[in-house]
Amino acid sequence: MIGAVLGLQFGDEGKGKISDFLSDKFQVEVRFNGGANAGHTVVANGEKYKFRLVPSGSLRCETVILGNGMVIDPLALIVEINNLMSSKCRAKIKISKLAHVVTPMHKELDKKEEEVRSKLSLGTTAQGIGPTYEDKYARSGIRMTDLQNLEILREKIEIIYRMKLNLLSGTEFSDAATRERIAQDLHRAGKELEPFLEYTESTIYDLYKQGKNILFEGAQGTMLDIDFGMYPFVTSSNALAGALSLGAGFPFRKVDYVIGVVKAYMSKVGAGPFPTEIHGEQADKLREFGDEYGTVTRRPRRVGWLDLPMLKYSIRMNDVDAIALTRLDTLGEMDKIRICTSYKKNGKELNYIPRSFQELEELELTFMEVESWGKLDPEILKKHDYHLLPQKMKDYIRIIENELRVPVEVLSLGEGRENTIVTQGSRLNSL
Ligand code: GDP
Ligand code: IMO
Ligand code: MG
Repeated sequence: MIGAVLGLQFGDEGKGKISDFLSDKFQVEVRFNGGANAGHTVVANGEKYKFRLVPSGSLRCETVILGNGMVIDPLALIVEINNLMSSKCRAKIKISKLAHVVTPMHKELDKKEEEVRSKLSLGTTAQGIGPTYEDKYARSGIRMTDLQNLEILREKIEIIYRMKLNLLSGTEFSDAATRERIAQDLHRAGKELEPFLEYTESTIYDLYKQGKNILFEGAQGTMLDIDFGMYPFVTSSNALAGALSLGAGFPFRKVDYVIGVVKAYMSKVGAGPFPTEIHGEQADKLREFGDEYGTVTRRPRRVGWLDLPMLKYSIRMNDVDAIALTRLDTLGEMDKIRICTSYKKNGKELNYIPRSFQELEELELTFMEVESWGKLDPEILKKHDYHLLPQKMKDYIRIIENELRVPVEVLSLGEGRENTIVTQGSRLNSL
C-alpha cells in the first residue's frame, strides 16, 4: 500500500505519533516538504524522540527518505542522524541530492525578514525555511549535491550574500572570513553525508516496484500551506497531499490511502487568523492539560475548538480517505466541549473558507456544545477495544464522521505508541 499522513489543521496534529504507529506496517517512510521547522514527537517504549528532518517512522522502518522538496540544514541533520544511530534505529537513511540546503545565512535572513515585516511578522520558527525556499525559486539555492564541491559552495554563498546584501550587511556574514568558514563547514558536512545522498526519486520508485509499503509523511498542515493556508501566516512550502509528487518525485496517482491527522481540538503556533481560538481561563486549562508548547520553539501554542468547516475544506483538498483523531484524552479533561459547525457572513452560511483579512474579521461562527467524557480509565485504555470507550467520546467521533463524511479509523488516546486504536473496518488491518 502507498499511504500518506498529513496534518489537516495548523500543524502539530500528532503526525509524528501516527507515522511512528504505522511504521510496523510500512517498510519505507518519506518526508517531502519543509525542514527543521517541523517537530514530530514520538513516544515509544517509554522514551521520547523528537524528529525534525528524519521521518518519524525511523525507529522501525527499513528505509527512510528525505525527499527533494525538503530544505535541510546539514549540520542539524548530522546531529539528528547521530542521535538516531545511538538509539536502536537500524533504518537505512537516504537523502535526496536535489533537496535544498539551509545555511546559517538563511537563519539570519529569517530573523531579519521578520523584523522588516514588523506588524505582519508571522512568528516563524527561525529555522531559515522561508529564505531557503526563496533562493530555490530564485535559482540561486544550494542543493545537497553541491556540498561535495567547495568551489561551487563558495560561489553560491557569494551569490546569496550579494543578493541579500541589504539585510546581511552589518551582520557577521559581511565578513568574508565568516562566509569562507560556512563554505568549509558545509563541505565537511557534505563529506559526512555523502554515503546517504542519492537521486531518491529513483530509490522510491524502485522500492515501489519491489512491492514495499511506502508512507509519505507530510510536515506542517493544510492551513499552513503556502497556497491554500492562511497566507501570509503560512510556511514557505506546500503541505497538501499533492505536494508529495513534487517533493518526493513520486506520482500521486499511485497513492492508495490518505490519512488526515486531526487533533480533537485545535492548536496553532505563530501569528495569524485562528477562527475558533479560545481565550482566557478555558484556553489556559486546555493548554495545560495538553502541555501545548511548541516542539521546536517551546512557544505556548494558541488553542481552539474543533473547526468542522475548515476540516471539510482540508479533507476535500487532500482527498482524505480516513481520519486519525488525536488527543481525545486531553480534550476529555475539559468540563465542556464545543465544536464549530458553520461559518457565516451577515447571517448567511459560507461554503468556502475566507482567506482575506477583511472577510475573516467579519466571520460569524456557529458552535454546538457536547458533553465531556472525562479522564480516561487506564484499565480500559489497556484493552484497546473501541467498544469499551466512553459513550460520550464515541458520540463526539460520530458527529465528526457524520459531518465530514470520512471515517475515523485511528484513535489516539495518549502520547505513547501503545495508546492507539485502529477501528475494525480500517484498511490498515489488512497490512
Ligand atoms: P506533529 O508535528 O503533528 O508531529 O505533532 P507534535 O509532535 O509537534 O505535537 C503533538 C504533541 O501531542 C506531541 O507532544 C505528541 O507526543 C502529543 N500527542 C500526540 N497524540 C497524542 C494523544 O493522543 N494524546 C496525548 N496526550 N498526546 C498526544
Ligand atoms: P509540524 O510539522 C506548527 C508555523 C510557524 C509560523 C509559520 C511559518 O511540527 O506540524 P516557518 O518557520 O515555517 O517559516 O514558520 O508556520 N509552522 C508550524 N507550526 N507545526 C509546524 O510543523 C510548523 N512549521 C511551521 O509557527 O507560524
Ligand atoms: Mg510539530
